[in-house]
Amino acid sequence: MIRIALGILLVLLVCAGCQSTGKSPEPSAGHEEFDRTEPHRPQFHFTPATSWMNDPNGMFYKDGEYHLSYQYYPDSTVWGPMHWGHAVSGDLVRWEHLPIALYPDSLGYIFSGSAVVDEANTSGFGTEGNPPVVAAFTHHDPIGEQAGADDFQAQSIAYSLDNGRSWTKYADNPVVRNNTGIRDFRDPKLIWHEQTRRWIMVLAVYDRVQFYASANLKDWEYLSDFAIDGDTRLWECPDLFPMRIEGSREPKWVLIVSIQKDGPTGGTGTSYFVGDFDGTTFTSDPTEQKWLDYGADNYAFVTWDNAPVGWGRRLGIGWMSNWQYAQQVPTETWRSAMTVPRVLHLEEEGGSYYLHALPVPSLSSLRRSELELDTLFTARQAIEGEFSPGQCELDLSLNLAASTATVFGITLSNDAGNRLMITLDRASNELTVDRTQSGSKGFSEAFFEGAHTAPLDLQRESLDLRLLFDVASVEIFANRGRLNLTEIFFPEQPFSKLEIWAEGGELRLDEGHVYGLSSIWEPLP
Ligand code: FRU
Repeated sequence: MIRIALGILLVLLVCAGCQSTGKSPEPSAGHEEFDRTEPHRPQFHFTPATSWMNDPNGMFYKDGEYHLSYQYYPDSTVWGPMHWGHAVSGDLVRWEHLPIALYPDSLGYIFSGSAVVDEANTSGFGTEGNPPVVAAFTHHDPIGEQAGADDFQAQSIAYSLDNGRSWTKYADNPVVRNNTGIRDFRDPKLIWHEQTRRWIMVLAVYDRVQFYASANLKDWEYLSDFAIDGDTRLWECPDLFPMRIEGSREPKWVLIVSIQKDGPTGGTGTSYFVGDFDGTTFTSDPTEQKWLDYGADNYAFVTWDNAPVGWGRRLGIGWMSNWQYAQQVPTETWRSAMTVPRVLHLEEEGGSYYLHALPVPSLSSLRRSELELDTLFTARQAIEGEFSPGQCELDLSLNLAASTATVFGITLSNDAGNRLMITLDRASNELTVDRTQSGSKGFSEAFFEGAHTAPLDLQRESLDLRLLFDVASVEIFANRGRLNLTEIFFPEQPFSKLEIWAEGGELRLDEGHVYGLSSIWEPLP
């Protein structure tokens, strides 16, 4: 945790400008003016205008607005004393940057956490007519950490009575102190548990999660632990929610945990368990850890509170980077983007339950041109039209039953010799993304270490495949969102060529489209 230690001196400076009352200082500018055409600046993903960003935090929906806070260090493009940056959106596509929501204070940095709309005013922070939004976050005390204390991470709360425009920290923070003797104790996720009519807090506690309960969001009681036997990896950013299984009325509980190493690509990754939560204990059936995303770049994925997506659906977003190289990627004025917001649902297959995730439907509002593809590919074919290969969406319905190709795929390239290759191999039933030649290699070895592969059944008769390319990222969704694979890349020039290719036979589509996507910074047509 060198990045944490590095910030110790800085917090003293930051705190000098902070309140001791817990009230937010004067809001700073919303940073609406920034260069949206810098190299590698995503055009339809959320990015901070400037400076460092990591995990999504404190997401809630209220009065027509989706709120997105995030780990933010305004004074640098690398990690430092954490604040909560803040943005809102009416459609989950176009975002408005708002002033910083939470600043570090005398109790420490503001680490990751969540927010809930306290509709019944159980906390008493608001009124019946104006219910509060309550955020829970980790106070991370860098001085205690440096001194070798065990309890330098504790959970605190803050509330807002004006839809997140200003926040007041609770006077009796922290509300959950660390008496576990385990140093990693963070990232509180709040949910309302309807059956026991109380709030639940899920915490990441080194190699496990812990559950706490409260009637008022202020007084918390420890409930239980959930861990995997023998696991010693660091768990972070948990989430917990009920979901109805697709096509049935049966509810299941999903527990999301991000894992700080040995994810599917070796670095950080987001995993989940499906099971039951009775208000006290989570039981996984069986203790099988699955990956939400097989790419390198979807970490700390968590979901919105109160989002109007219906029972059986859940709306979430992830940080589109990886701690292996997040602080080295070649962007100059800011670092990191979020994934596109994704709608989750749960499907049963072969006696096991899987989360599926698809881009939020409102993303289609960015489509500006439409190219209908030929349905037969026999070799390598360049796809040309009114779209830029680096900023488009590919929507393919593959007719695998009628295809004889053994391997096929999609390649992006440019005149600088950079290449991103996506391969589907029917012999191994795998989808592979190879970014090892996607740009100049100087900034990180781990980034270019090898291609990343996900299991995908290619013996089936048909397959839906959707790809979103946004300047410096690809998000792949296959099989109704059962497979997600998210990767970032940094070509030396924008990718200018898109090819679809087939080997060992022909590839047939039922249909295929390429959509040119507009920038979210452009005014609506
Ligand atoms: C995950 C994480 C969290 C922590 C935050 C600090 O990426 O390490 O566990 O709260 O980042 O910025």
